[in-house]
Amino acid sequence: MNQPSNIAVIVGSLRKESLNAKAARALADLAPDGVSLNIIPIGDLPHYNEDVEAEGAPESWTRFREQIGKAEAILFVSPEYNRSVPGVLKNAIDVGSRPYGSSVWQGKPAAIMTLSPGALGGFGANHHIRQMLVFQDMPVLQQPEAYIGNAGSIFDEQGGFKDEKTKAFFQTFLDAFLALVARA
Ligand code: FNR
Repeated sequence: MNQPSNIAVIVGSLRKESLNAKAARALADLAPDGVSLNIIPIGDLPHYNEDVEAEGAPESWTRFREQIGKAEAILFVSPEYNRSVPGVLKNAIDVGSRPYGSSVWQGKPAAIMTLSPGALGGFGANHHIRQMLVFQDMPVLQQPEAYIGNAGSIFDEQGGFKDEKTKAFFQTFLDAFLALVARA
């Protein structure tokens, strides 16, 4: 694959002022011409339930599966909740992974960035997401790892970067991901 045109971005926070949503938008702004990073909503997905699947998938599950299915690669940007993955993100991964044998994640290249106002940068969540993506057979960016700590102080009022060093790291991370996708 050459440079992708359509990368789906899954943000693991539903909060209006989410630091992770700001990071996702900042990464989208850093993408080169022709590469779109599109945030796919996950807040309206009912909890995954196999009985509901058997009765007929809700429209929001179908919409989500189609959007992920069309994407060439997936970027996860998430907070850490209780040293793990927010439930809303876990649910989205579960919804995309079913029906059995029809996972929309299967084989798509992926990258993970976690942000926290705390010092550890969501390390626990980052690796729990990685564990799920291994099961989905997704080639995941190895380096650079992206655990963004003290994230409450990296964005200005407009969502821009307060310092060039952080911006440069985000650019390096995105460039490495695009190189992985191009190799896939
Ligand atoms: C948190 N937070 C948190 N932070 C962290 O670094 N490790 C953790 O385990 C947790 N656990 C946790 C659980 C729950 C239920 C909430 C609501 C929050 C704090 C979290 O990092 C902080 O609220 C972030 O600002 C959330 O990310 P967004 O919404 O800003 O993207």
